[in-house]
Amino acid sequence: MCSRIKRGIFLTLEGIDGSGKSSALKALYTELSLQYNVIATREPGATPIGKHIRDVVQSSSEPLCPRAEFLLFAADRAQHFHEIVLPYLADSYIVISDRMADSSLAYQGYGRGLDKEFIKTVNEWVTRGVKPDCTFYLRTDQTVARERVNRRLEIKTTIEKEHNDFFQRVTDGFEAIFNGRSDVIVIDASQNQKKVHEDIIQAVYTFLSFTKDAV
Ligand SMILES: Nc1ncnc2c1ncn2[C@@H]1O[C@H](COP(=O)(O)OP(=O)(O)OP(=O)(O)O)[C@@H](O)[C@H]1O
Ligand SMILES: [Mg+2]
Repeated sequence: MCSRIKRGIFLTLEGIDGSGKSSALKALYTELSLQYNVIATREPGATPIGKHIRDVVQSSSEPLCPRAEFLLFAADRAQHFHEIVLPYLADSYIVISDRMADSSLAYQGYGRGLDKEFIKTVNEWVTRGVKPDCTFYLRTDQTVARERVNRRLEIKTTIEKEHNDFFQRVTDGFEAIFNGRSDVIVIDASQNQKKVHEDIIQAVYTFLSFTKDAV
């Protein structure tokens, strides 16, 4: 199935809130779009339907139960793949997504304690089994990341208002998910932003040099 619908390259950025994914996405997009067809996208909220879902999961005044929260992220992902990820991959683009399926596993699986196998099954279903070719894991401890989120001049989302023990479970979750995976490149995201961006750009070129025939 994958080979029929996917011809481009699918990259994802993962890490806890404040690890620097959105900043890294901009740096990668700016660099790669000089020589490739690239689309920068994100979860949740990349599509018109996804924006409604993002409003509910990030700023609802009513508390969402964990199962509803996961299913809303999954619905956003289904729409994201249908409208953006799969069509652009079919058109041989490099698609870079700020968060994707591993975030659900880390936040709703490890963070909220939902059944991880169920989350994996639903992720597989909504993505039609299409997985990232490479994931950049922006690794940093939660103290550094929380300070950045607190400094950022944006209203905190529902998840960003969670307590330290929740973020510790999510951080531990990312470590467990990405441990020993050959499709994951770990970036030391506790460094200054310039160095993080240099590292990730170098890493993406190394990755592309092994896969350059694909785009
Ligand atoms: N390496 C860095 N050093 C210092 N500040 C950084 C670094 N990377 C990003 N920042 C700043 O920290 C804040 C959080 O970064 P960013 O929004 O990119 O994180 P994020 O991983 O996308 O967070 P979220 O998951 O909440 O969207 C931003 O204000 C950003 O400018
Ligand atoms: Mg972000």
